Amino acid sequence: MPTTTECRVCAGTVREFFDFGRQPLSDAFRLPDSTDEEFFFRLAVGACDACTMVQLMEEVPRERMFHEDYPYLSSGSAGMRNHFEAVAKRFLTSELTGEDPFTVEIGCNDGVMLKTIADAGQRHLGVEPSGGVADIAASLGVDVRKDFFEEETAARIIDRSGHADVVFSANTFCHIPYIGSVLRGVEALLSPRGVFVFEDPYFGDIVDKTSYDQVYDEHFFLFTVTSVRTMASRFGLELVDVERIPVHGGELRYTLARAGAREPSAAVAAMLAEEAERGLASQETLRGFGESVRRSRERLLALLRRLRAEGRRVVGYGATAKSATVVNFCGIDEGLIEFVTDTTPAKQGRLTPGGHIPVRGPEAFSDPYPDYALLFAWNHSEEIMAKERAFRDSGGHWIGYVPEVRVL
Ligand code: SAM
Ligand code: TMP
Ligand code: ZN
Repeated sequence: MPTTTECRVCAGTVREFFDFGRQPLSDAFRLPDSTDEEFFFRLAVGACDACTMVQLMEEVPRERMFHEDYPYLSSGSAGMRNHFEAVAKRFLTSELTGEDPFTVEIGCNDGVMLKTIADAGQRHLGVEPSGGVADIAASLGVDVRKDFFEEETAARIIDRSGHADVVFSANTFCHIPYIGSVLRGVEALLSPRGVFVFEDPYFGDIVDKTSYDQVYDEHFFLFTVTSVRTMASRFGLELVDVERIPVHGGELRYTLARAGAREPSAAVAAMLAEEAERGLASQETLRGFGESVRRSRERLLALLRRLRAEGRRVVGYGATAKSATVVNFCGIDEGLIEFVTDTTPAKQGRLTPGGHIPVRGPEAFSDPYPDYALLFAWNHSEEIMAKERAFRDSGGHWIGYVPEVRVL
């Protein structure tokens, strides 16, 4: 796949600032006896000289990532189930109180958010290209269209169902390189007072925490308030609110409306000023991030090698998409981590992408407990630590690597 230096938002020049090297698809868990050739691409990240948008230098074709067997289930953690129920309830008492409101979700996955809207008897539509997870949503009573959202999809939705009061998208908008098509579609789809609300990892948190594992094939864009505001304005939209949310290790919830339709909140100006003051898009910040990433790799490898030399058993906890970057960038293999435990049925019995570490169900974790568990699902740490108290009681230790490598 060719590296492109043309910004996917504004056609400016993207300057590369870190190269993670050859990486597999983060959600391509392999059957142990598979003889299929594994797909790799160069995972490198850059920032646009003109609009500051942080983005990948190489794009993976969307059908390779999002298909019938896409394994990620949004309902896989209690924390995210609660989060999305709260999001839906908030919409129901704010944006969705008019006559016969209509909500569209881009990337509804297993229906974790739309289920609450459906249960309230309101019109809604989830647009979800990954067939397996879309079927789960449909089985819960959620209306789903199996499709990639883009400009033409929006036109078909308008023909059938009219305009939307809310377009919502969580952990999906940043996955879409053809972002201009999506924004033209959203702009057409929104009713005059409608809002486009999306939640995605915040580049500011990624820099602060050296959470470089947020960089992988699916995370094509790493948004900032500055870059999102500029992007929105190119498509007749305006950033009218921004809110920090404590999920997935630090995200922002952005609200866009038609330009001039709503008064931007004070939070927008405050975050823009904060980003400018800290120089979030500056060459110095981007170089510093790269140095921190290399340091983090050295420390994690040193710790894992020492534990192996001491004869300790170490396993991974959570076969997250994020962990693909850690495993393959650091060169972690079965010699350092015996297996990775994960609750997702479609990942169990398979091998992790690239590193080929076996994935086992939760029963393997306690049979018997290892000495150490490397917490790949660190964004769910509270939930996991509470659930796995017996591991610590057995003398086990957690290893974290965000914001720094340490035994917890
Ligand atoms: N919204 C859920 C959440 O926050 O947990 C799902 C997030 S999951 C990481 C990303 C989802 O986006 C996948 O289910 C994928 O199939 C879907 N997706 C990818 N490209 C899409 C597009 N162009 N339109 C709609 N959904 C898309
Ligand atoms: P995520 O960080 O992208 O949400 O992925 C979390 C992964 O961790 C997902 O594969 C499910 C798994 N998981 C567990 O195995 N046990 C748990 O208790 C939780 C919360 C997640
Ligand atoms: Zn740009």
